[in-house]
Amino acid sequence: MSQPLLQVEDITAGFGATTVLHGVSFTVPAGGIAGVFGLNGAGKSVTMKTLAGILPARSGRILLNGDDITKLSPEKRVARGMGHVPQGRQVFPQLTVEENLRLGAYTLRRRDKGRYAASLDSVYDRFPVLRQRRSQMAGTMSGGQQASLSVGRALINEPSLILIDEPSAGLSPVAQLELNEVLETVAETGVTMVLVEQNVAFGLSLVDTAHLMQTGVVVHSAPVAELDESTLATHLGIGKVLQAATGRALADRQSVPPQRSSSRAGRAS
Ligand SMILES: Nc1ncnc2c1ncn2[C@@H]1O[C@H](COP(=O)(O)OP(=O)(O)OP(=O)(O)O)[C@@H](O)[C@H]1O
Ligand SMILES: [Mg+2]
Repeated sequence: MSQPLLQVEDITAGFGATTVLHGVSFTVPAGGIAGVFGLNGAGKSVTMKTLAGILPARSGRILLNGDDITKLSPEKRVARGMGHVPQGRQVFPQLTVEENLRLGAYTLRRRDKGRYAASLDSVYDRFPVLRQRRSQMAGTMSGGQQASLSVGRALINEPSLILIDEPSAGLSPVAQLELNEVLETVAETGVTMVLVEQNVAFGLSLVDTAHLMQTGVVVHSAPVAELDESTLATHLGIGKVLQAATGRALADRQSVPPQRSSSRAGRAS
């Protein structure tokens, strides 16, 4: 089997005397979208922050393309091809769209100044709404547009892997559909994603593999094709109402043949 793009090995992390991650392990192959699901407070965002280098791992290892990046700074991880779209999107509301993208590209500009213009152009090609609104204050854009900006800001450094934390949060159903298309397009261009979602139905429509987290540990990993509804409900504490939506999303994914590249379906972790 070819080398995974990302290997997360028994990571522990926390704050002061509190340990939040108690040994998180999962593997992400190159290509496609890996999902991380779990209840509020399960440690999904802390996992993403540890992967991005914002929070140090206390033990365990993180390998990117086989290289140990556990001790690298966030900037060095970005330079190695890792992007992070934090929970809440964190765009700078008082800056324009283009200023937000320019700030996001500081690692790229330091590495190779000449690439910035081409990379900005390619982000604008992918998100025409950002080109159109390049001079608008980011804070005045709609939630869906800000979601595009936050993904565009990560893509501008030309990453091979992006970590996306709750991109659908607060979006209308229509904006969620648009976001779904955006993320599909990004995946089709060969960028691998780790997607954290509270909205399990939304997440299941996108991911190839699901990693289920409970209190700081990944308790179950499976390709979507092999997931069953009761496993999801048990690990995610999903009640009857939500279970119907989640079940439908799962059935949809399992009945429709994979649309992305042939590498999409059936990859276990
Ligand atoms: N800066 C911090 N200081 C102290 N505790 C924190 C900090 N950030 C997170 N925690 C705690 O770590 C645990 C996991 O938080 P985390 O943000 O990873 O949850 P989550 O799975 O992303 O939840 P949600 O779905 O609500 O975003 C929670 O108990 C939270 O209170
Ligand atoms: Mg979170």
